[in-house]
Amino acid sequence: MKLLVCGGAGFIGSNFVRQRVREHGDDVIVLDKLTYAGRRENLQDLEQVELVVAGIEDADAVRGAAEGVDAVVNFAAETHVDRSIAEPDAFVQTHAVGTWVLLEAVREAGLRYVHVSTDEVYGSIEEGSFTESSPLEPSSPYSATKAGADLLVSSYFHTYGTEAVICRGSNNYGPYQYPEKLIPLMILNALHGDHLPVYGDGMQVRNWIYVEDFAAGIGHTLTHGVPGEVYNVGGPDECPNLEVVRRIIELTGGDESQIEYVTDRPGHDRRYSLSSDKVRALGWQPQVRFAEGLERTVDWYRENTAWWEPIRSGDYREYYERHYGRSLG
Ligand code: NAD
Ligand code: DAU
Repeated sequence: MKLLVCGGAGFIGSNFVRQRVREHGDDVIVLDKLTYAGRRENLQDLEQVELVVAGIEDADAVRGAAEGVDAVVNFAAETHVDRSIAEPDAFVQTHAVGTWVLLEAVREAGLRYVHVSTDEVYGSIEEGSFTESSPLEPSSPYSATKAGADLLVSSYFHTYGTEAVICRGSNNYGPYQYPEKLIPLMILNALHGDHLPVYGDGMQVRNWIYVEDFAAGIGHTLTHGVPGEVYNVGGPDECPNLEVVRRIIELTGGDESQIEYVTDRPGHDRRYSLSSDKVRALGWQPQVRFAEGLERTVDWYRENTAWWEPIRSGDYREYYERHYGRSLG
């Protein structure tokens, strides 16, 4: 299969590309704007993959890159909730305009399209799990613009018959995740003896999925998903943030005294939980439990200092100071 993978230089996108090339023998072109989160280094071991540096909102670049492909898989997005609260502009631009430009390109060329989305579009749930027919009640500028993009994708199926599938994932973790997100941030801070900033009471619950499992779920909907349908792809385990941090302390040899309770995120969603029965019925299931995946992830960050050192010593420090009001050691 020949694929155009948008946002393929980011965390999940690069894991997906690696899986498609190595396990399925696909021919892949990546189109990525290389924002702070997108890095050439994430694809360094995949020399056969062509990287087109452009935004999904650039219609000419998208049309050119999509020539001759069988399908487009879109990961391109601004993905950090805290950044969406501080500066929502890029979220609106990429999720609304960018998704529209991509949809026009796939409509014109008659291509299959997989849109990567998130459980955050459903909002927070106290008990039970969201199904694909749960109402969309997003709470942050990140999730609201992602929900808007999902609705636009559905409209292209209903109006033009575009062969589009939407895949909503739960919280991913694993290799190549930018250390603004909870797990890699806590691993690197724990290894460096820095503080471990827990928002609010730390009892917010996330439904963790190992990135290779999510990548496989997306691949599964690419080949088996029914056009016009939404598929939830959730992880096998749920865990409150404080317990995640404590497990990381154990795995890294950090210390409980590094935990610091900091001001909560405005509008913080309390719990996410996905029912994935629909994609399981297509034959997918997660392979990696949280305890094992977290251990693998800690090992990867320990062994790949050359990947994260340039991030931790660059612009990230300014972001960190601005956001947490203190510097890294
Ligand atoms: P990431 O921030 O690591 O990567 C995003 C990638 O998109 C980067 O390579 C970036 O350069 C690129 N990008 C951003 N704006 C672009 C634009 N306008 N044009 C082209 N490229 C652009 O994010 P991620 O965690 O890998 O998330 C990928 C997708 O999966 C997103 O759509 C996200 O909403 C979704 N998702 C993420 C999670 C998670 O836990 N990380 C869970 C469920 C769904
Ligand atoms: O649920 C899927 C979503 O998961 C994706 O769509 C998003 O792109 C991804 O960023 C992620 O969103 P979260 O907001 O859940 O992830 P984050 O890693 O930012 O935070 C996870 C939890 O940890 C959340 O409850 C906030 C908390 N947290 C986070 C950070 C960065 C802290 O307590 N301290 C922190 O420093």
